[in-house]
Amino acid sequence: MTCAPSHEPTEAHPDRLRWNARHQSGALNDAPQPLARAAEAAGIPAGPVLELACGLSGTALFFARQGRQVTAVDISDIALQRLGAAAAGLALETVHADLKGYRPSPGRYALVLASRYWDREVFCRAAGAVAAGGLLAWETFRLAQRELRPSFRAAFCLAAGEPASLLGEEFELLEFGDLDLPGQALRRLIARRRPAEAG
Ligand SMILES: C[S@@+](CC[C@H](N)C(=O)[O-])C[C@H]1O[C@@H](n2cnc3c(N)ncnc32)[C@H](O)[C@@H]1O
Repeated sequence: MTCAPSHEPTEAHPDRLRWNARHQSGALNDAPQPLARAAEAAGIPAGPVLELACGLSGTALFFARQGRQVTAVDISDIALQRLGAAAAGLALETVHADLKGYRPSPGRYALVLASRYWDREVFCRAAGAVAAGGLLAWETFRLAQRELRPSFRAAFCLAAGEPASLLGEEFELLEFGDLDLPGQALRRLIARRRPAEAG
């Protein structure tokens, strides 16, 4: 396990403080997110995995335990410390970064995924980081979440048609639809970057 600082947020970044407070006491999941299972079922080529806004999810651990090289990014250093401790001996790199400034290597990852985080520019950079033949998997709240929780900010919600509408022709949609869980109005996308054409 390594802990590489990159685009590190300031000590007083409000999101860092807010999420550190939550991740201090929350339970570290040992199981992957359902999104990770769905991506696996779709078929992930060999190669590294990038999880954005990983928090305390078990997804990064799940792929690292499979022997994949995993990079897990979050603004909460507390979550990353806890994840890193659980990943001792595994090829899991934690990156403490504000995703708004984070630039993943283009075309590098067999799978890029995020759950319950939304930012359009981050999503577009994530799509750019998917290798030819690799997967992009995203699951997060849609605007209907505001009917369940009116204080939930619209900026954190997918608008109609998103995020599929943000992808270009280079992606093939494998799964795209709404998911309604108790108290959560979500939407899931799984898309594959078309393999490079043999030239
Ligand atoms: C709702 S939690 C989701 C965690 C995990 N993906 C899951 O589904 O259980 C949102 C996560 O996004 C992280 N986050 C929020 N703003 C961020 C930012 N600007 N840059 C990086 N991570 C951020 C938080 O620290 C938190 O871990």
